[in-house]
This record gives sequence, C-alpha cells and structure tokens, in this order.
Amino acid sequence: MKECCAFLLLLLFICPLGFYLYTIEYGTKLSPDFYAHSCPQVEDIVIDVLATTIATETRMAASLMRLHYHDCFEGNYDMQGCDGSLLLDSIGGIVSEKNSVFNSQSVRGFEVIDQIKAQLEKECPGTVSCADVLTLAARDSSVLSGGPSWVVPLGRRDSINASLSGSNSNIPASNDSFKAILRKFNRHGLDVTDLVALSGSHTIGFSRCTSFRQRLYNQSGDGRPDITLEESFAANLRKSCPIAGGEENLSVLDMVTAAKFDNNYFINLIKNMGLLYSDQILFSGNDISRGLVITYAQDQEVFFLQFAESMIKMGNISPLMGSNGEIRKNCRKINS
Ligand code: HEM
Repeated sequence: MKECCAFLLLLLFICPLGFYLYTIEYGTKLSPDFYAHSCPQVEDIVIDVLATTIATETRMAASLMRLHYHDCFEGNYDMQGCDGSLLLDSIGGIVSEKNSVFNSQSVRGFEVIDQIKAQLEKECPGTVSCADVLTLAARDSSVLSGGPSWVVPLGRRDSINASLSGSNSNIPASNDSFKAILRKFNRHGLDVTDLVALSGSHTIGFSRCTSFRQRLYNQSGDGRPDITLEESFAANLRKSCPIAGGEENLSVLDMVTAAKFDNNYFINLIKNMGLLYSDQILFSGNDISRGLVITYAQDQEVFFLQFAESMIKMGNISPLMGSNGEIRKNCRKINS
C-alpha cells in the first residue's frame, strides 16, 4: 500500500514536470532556454560572427535589425510573423519577399545570416531556426552598436512559404500618414509606445535618396519641401539627393551619431531633423507620440528599456511553434 502511494506521488510529480519540460522544449511558448540542451552555444556563435562582421562594416548592425523587423511585419493579424519567410529565395513555388516594394534594392545582410546558419549547422545540425537567428542577430546588433541588451525568447520555427503580397501591404511606407503607420503596428499587436520606441532604431543605418526625396522638393504636390524639415538640413540633403537621379545615394538616418545606438534620433526629431517623413511625424503628427519623443530625447535609459521591451514584443508576432513549419537547413530554401 505504502509503495503504491509513493508510486502515485512520484507520478503526480513527474507528469507535470515532464509536461512542463516538453512545452518549454517543443511546445507552445517561446523561452530563453529553448536551446539550453540542444544547442547551448547558439548565442556565442551568433555574436562571434556578428562581432567580426560589424567590426569591418558598422552598417551591417542596422541592416540586420531591419531584416528582423521586415520578417516579423510581413504577416497579417495572426498569420505569418517572425518566421524567417523573408530569407527565402524565389525557388519552386516560392515567390520571395525580397522582391517586395519595401525590400527590393533595400534590405541587406542575407549573407551574414547564411554564415551564422552554416556555423550552427556544423555544431548543432537541424536545431536552430532561421527565425531565431534573425531575432538574436537583431539583439546583438543593438548591443554591438552600443544599444541595450535583453533576454531573447527562442523556439520559433521556420515557414515553408513566403508572402510577397503580405510584405507589400503590411510594412509601413516612409510617406504613410501617422494614422496609417500606427494602424499597421496595431495590426501586429503593437501600440504607439512600441511605434515610437522601435522607430528609435533609426538611430543607426542609412536611407536611400528615393525614400525621402519627396520631402526635399515636393512634399504635397505644390513643388515645395516638407515644412517640418529644417531648412539647412534640407539644403545639405539636396547635395546628395538631387531632384532627379541618384536614387541609391545614401544618407545617414541619424546625422549626429550615425553608427552609435543612442537617443540622438529623438533629439534630432525635436530639431526637425528627422530624415524620413515617417520619423518626423512622430514629433509633428500626434500628441502622444510627441510626448514619447520628448521623453526618450531627455532620458536615454528610458528609451533603452522601452526599446528592449518593444523588440521582445515584436519578436513575439505570430511565431510558428510545436510541429508547425520546420527548421530549415539553409535559410534561403525550404527543406524539401
Ligand atoms: C515606423 C515605420 C517604419 C518606416 C516607415 C521605416 C522606413 C525605413 C526606410 C524607408 C528605410 C531606408 C530604406 C532604404 O532607403 O533603403 C529604413 C531603414 C532602416 N530601418 Fe526602418 N522603418 C520603420 C520602422 C522600423 C523599425 C520598427 C525598425 C527596427 C526595429 C527599423 C529599422 C531600420 C534600420 C536599422 C534601418 C537602416 C538599415 C540599413 O542601413 O541597412 N525601421 N526604414
């Protein structure tokens, strides 16, 4: 009788523990410990590759952060979020998101993701998803540029398809109105605080002339520049972004500390020196977002804390988990 009770007690203990471990490893919730047993070196591999890459090309930090954002935002409501779909090339029935209006000639960094993935496949074959690699690379890009760090929940799986139409319609455009941009954020469960904090990633990286030219010459169809653009700043920008041609010419998104992840982006906005229309309207287009811009401009620590929180939230957009999707061997193509 005693043995029977002890056995029952043991069962009662083991079953929930087993279930808990199962859900952490394969289940329904992302977890920072997801690869603790299957690939404990994953974070070291990612940061090692990035440290070498970013030491030779600082811009790559910005490009990788943007890759993660465009991967997460291509979906619609509860479908197709951070699932590595952006990394797929056009092969077989797949039409790559790399060809969308926001990605074509613009997103970059795929070869760095390939490099990390190749190293992971050597050390932990078939284990770490491309979607998780993107998420970790975004976090480490922040850290290596002087920005905040955070603990990344892991366990996303990779999609077996891509959505060019989703990428075209769900990613905000730089000339969208404040309302339109916020609507696209809300669609993914992100609010105005997330919008302002995440836009703060424009503290690093570059934009092509084509993404902001309209502001310099003809913002509203009357042949005049955007009135929310500081005049001497606009005059300077016109030198590298002419009225015609030079589409691919680059300007830094934060002209004060271009390669450093800090709160200068927000200080620029207060001076009407945001590069993109979508940057400047955070200050000029809405009272709540203006208040947040001022707060982050005054206190970098507050910005960093919110940025970390919002990045985790963005990384949670509709991940594939459990037996959905797959762990791609090569981030550019599905397994079979
Ligand atoms: C609020 C809506 C947003 C709009 C309209 C927007 C738009 C843009 C545009 C037009 C560019 C320049 C692209 C080019 O000309 O090739 C850019 C660059 C960039 N974006 Fe955004 N963005 C937004 C939000 C975000 C978010 C949420 C993140 C990350 C969390 C992000 C990260 C970046 C980075 C780091 C770059 C520089 C990339 C590089 O230098 O390669 N953006 N963005």
